[in-house]
Amino acid sequence: MPQTVLVTGGAGFIGSHTCVELLKHGHEVIVVDNFSNSSPGAVEAVQKLAGRPLPLHEADLRDRAALDAIFAEHEIDAVIHFAAKKAVGESMKIPLEYFDTNIGGTIALLRAMNDHGVRRLVFSSSCSVYGETPKVPLNEDDPAAPTNPYARTKHICEQLLGDACARYPELSVIALRYFNPIGAHPSGEIGEDPNGVPNNVLPYMAQVAVGRLAELPVFGDDYPTPDGTGVRDYIHVVDVADGHRVALDHLDDERGLRVFNLGTGSGASVLELMAEFASAVGAPIPYRVEARRPGDVPALIADAGRVERAWGWRTTRDLAAMCADAWHFQRLHPTGYSASPTV
Ligand code: UFG
Repeated sequence: MPQTVLVTGGAGFIGSHTCVELLKHGHEVIVVDNFSNSSPGAVEAVQKLAGRPLPLHEADLRDRAALDAIFAEHEIDAVIHFAAKKAVGESMKIPLEYFDTNIGGTIALLRAMNDHGVRRLVFSSSCSVYGETPKVPLNEDDPAAPTNPYARTKHICEQLLGDACARYPELSVIALRYFNPIGAHPSGEIGEDPNGVPNNVLPYMAQVAVGRLAELPVFGDDYPTPDGTGVRDYIHVVDVADGHRVALDHLDDERGLRVFNLGTGSGASVLELMAEFASAVGAPIPYRVEARRPGDVPALIADAGRVERAWGWRTTRDLAAMCADAWHFQRLHPTGYSASPTV
């Protein structure tokens, strides 16, 4: 059934890819974004790829009046809530901004949904809620132990969603804990284009490859992992986007809060990712080893079983495709969506 979906943070990396998947599958999409870490160019590219326009509202979720106006203007069936700050290192430096944006934005959104009778929500959570754990792979019943403010905001949002569901039993909420989304749409038209110097490893590497940055800092080579660098479960952003599309179809299976990992079930170290990306680029990536980044953990890998058992869904794209597609986007758009470099 086609649905009208409000996508918060729809101009962002995962948001823009999800908009394309939703539009491709016949849903109507409305985007709200404050462009704090994204660009209107992403929404233009989404419209070009989908071959149809979509309503775009520039607003901060904490602006209740703006949010009310959006809910009043559109008949919204469901919300997919991406809009948030998302960098571990940055969250250690500006924790209060993280709590304000991520938790404040989610509360304002829930209030607006409640006031306008919208009961269905897919929430963007994170594998980082698991924190430092000796156990991989991680399943959804493993205890949360966030190690940094960013991860804590995601964990607190999950808890407040659980409490909201207990109070309002008509709510259906799915929290998707993504592992590390990378890659880009295979067209090369949309991809990851953070404002300023990238915080995450793949966009940093990609900007080194096009000469915008000199070398990749590798944060620590003394972790208890096979090559000493951090291990993550990288997942293709189009798989993440597809996971949201499928979650939307399953919102009515059950009321209350349900939590699912979105990951591949296998991990790669920073050096392994760099080797794969270098082979997509056809040239080595200059790097230097630096100290560990505060708040980082050695390894995070998903147990991807729950989502497969529940929905028969699993990822289909491997690390080579992630790197090839990320490089395709960066090569076509060396300065991202803007005509001139932002760094
Ligand atoms: N890393 C580097 N150099 C960098 C950046 C990162 O070596 O310049 C290392 C990190 O130490 C870590 C790995 O690369 O071992 C991945 O780091 P990212 O910053 O790319 O991603 P995180 O694992 O910190 O994950 C965070 C959030 C996730 C989110 C992901 C992508 O916790 O929820 O960013 O946005 F999915």
